[in-house]
Parts: sequence; structure tokens; C-alpha cells
Amino acid sequence: MKDYLKKYWTSLCVMIGMAIFLTACGGGDGGEESSAETDTTGNEENGSQEGTIGEKHSFKLGVITPPDHMWHQAAEKFKEELEANSDGRMTLEIYPSGQLGNESDMLQQIESGSLDFGFITAAEISSREEAFSAWFTPYLFETIKDAHEARKSDVAQEMLTTLDSYGMKGLDYLFAGQRVMLFKDKEVKSPADMEGLVLRVTPSPPMLEFYNSTGASTEGIPLPEVYSAVQTGVIDGMDMDLDATITNKFFEVVDYGAVTNHMVWPSVAVVNADIFSGLPEEDQQTIKDSLETAADYAVNTRFDQEEEFKQTLSDEGMTIYDLDKEAFSKQIQNFDKIYKGKDPLIEKFITEFRE
Ligand code: BEZ
Repeated sequence: MKDYLKKYWTSLCVMIGMAIFLTACGGGDGGEESSAETDTTGNEENGSQEGTIGEKHSFKLGVITPPDHMWHQAAEKFKEELEANSDGRMTLEIYPSGQLGNESDMLQQIESGSLDFGFITAAEISSREEAFSAWFTPYLFETIKDAHEARKSDVAQEMLTTLDSYGMKGLDYLFAGQRVMLFKDKEVKSPADMEGLVLRVTPSPPMLEFYNSTGASTEGIPLPEVYSAVQTGVIDGMDMDLDATITNKFFEVVDYGAVTNHMVWPSVAVVNADIFSGLPEEDQQTIKDSLETAADYAVNTRFDQEEEFKQTLSDEGMTIYDLDKEAFSKQIQNFDKIYKGKDPLIEKFITEFRE
């Protein structure tokens, strides 16, 4: 063989050999054919945080409320959007009614990665990060649409980032109706009428602070135990939203509903941080967009249901009446003073949104 032909065949063989070697080492384009293995959280075993494009994912989401509550409907909307926007590649199974345990259990499952997503009340989340208490500042927002807009503010987004240190990522907020007050057998018109009553409040410090300042005694009872507590006379009334008053049939055991709308009631959409960061950016964006559509759907639907819900409860025999902000001006001042001093994010939040 001529010299130049020998050189040509030798370099051709070297090039083919290198190409085979690089392919075997996973030096491809990182697409579906990537040989890097994924563990159960979607993280690549080589330590990279970037997930594989085009991979299938089946997620689980837990929520405390029953299927006819707005948060469950929002979860259904999230599922529908996620599955449609990913052409069925990402799927979601929803576990409502606390099937996976109470909110504290679900939060632990998300932190450990045994549950992917949760819609968890800001009240429960504030047990991790006090800043979330800011959402329970009394009479800060006139309507849930105002609160829905406020969730985009820098301060509300900053709050979400505080969850990073718990192995979770806070993605968004979803609103159900505002809080109202239900009383078993007394038409309460002012804080003075609340003195001596035992009222159920979600076991969350800012909510307890507000009620204790009215002169009522408070019991921190989780949602599933409230019906029997009021039925058996352990409590004289409760802090609730109209949605849960209907879905939990509290109208069977209380006679009076004061529509105070004194606090908004967000749930926080959270995801396990490793699971989320193990996804490629485009899947992360699909999740965020799908959640945003679900959050818009929830607030708009719920906003339009206000009068219908009041009517439903009147039809069930309850006396439903409005009770204005002015009745609670002392309690509002007291709350702002105490909570502004608790955390810089709370101070920023109250200062930004108090009119
Ligand atoms: C509550 O604890 O009052 C509650 C929790 C979730 C949804 C609605 C109400």
C-alpha cells in the first residue's frame, strides 16, 4: 500500500474508534438516548441537577380538603393543564380529604420526597416559616382578587424562597374564600358579644392572636374534628370559610354565620425541591404555567360564588349577616403592632398592603 493510503486508513480507524468510545461514555446530545440513569427523584446519578428531556413523570399531590372544595378543584385544573401541556408525559394523581394524613404529615412527606406536591394551608406552612403569618393579617385585603394579585409581589415571592431551606420549593398561592365566623346559637355583632365564647380557630398563632384579642377563648382544632366539637358543645363557634362550611356540612350544627371576610385563606403550592430541580427547565416551566392557570381558575370561580354560597347557607336554615371591619378596629391595630415586630417580611407585607 502506498504511504499516503496507509496514513488515510490509520486516521480513519482512529476517528471511528474515538466516536465509538465517546458514544459509550454518554457523550451524546443528552436527549432520550442519554445513558445517565435517573433515580426515583429524577436526579441523575452523576450529580447533575438537569433532568432528561422528554422523560415521563407521574406525580402525586396531597390536599386536606374534600373533592368539592375549591382547592381540590384547583388541583383538578392543575392536573388537566399539566397533562395537556405535556402531551400526557407528566401525569398527576390527587389525594384529597387528607387521605395521606393531616397537613403536618403531608408537609413531612414532601420534605422527605415521598410525596411530590401539596396544596398546604399557609397556616400550616407558617409552622415552618413565620413570615407566612403575614397572610393572616386581619382585613388586609378587600377581596380575594386583591390577594391573588398580591401573590405576585416581591415580598410574597420572597416568602416562597424561604421554603428552600426545608427541601421544598414554594411555587404559587391559591385562594379559597375569605374567613368568616360561625356561631352555634348566638348572633354576634361585635367583639363584646364574643367574650366568654369558646371558638375553634385553625391552630395557627396569628389566627389565635386575632381571636384572643376579641376576648373569646380559643381552641386550636384541626378541620376534621370540628364538626363533632361543635355538635357536642365543646365549642360555641368557629373561624371558617363559606366553602368549607358547605363542604363539611357545618350548617347542620351552627345557626349563625357572620360574613366578616376578615382574613384571606391561601394554600401554598409546594413541591419537593430535589424532584423539581431534577426536571429539565421546560418541564419546570410547564408545571409553573399549569399552576398559574389553576390559581387563576380558582380565584375567578370562587369570587363569582360568594352570593351563591351565602344563599345556599340561608336555604339550609342559617342566619347569614354581614359584620363590618369597623367593629374590629382595635383588634386590627393590636395585630399590626405585634406582628410587624416579628419578622422583616411580615412588616414589609403589612406596610405594602395596608391601605
Ligand atoms: C380550616 O382548617 O379551617 C380549613 C382548612 C382547609 C380548608 C378550609 C378550611
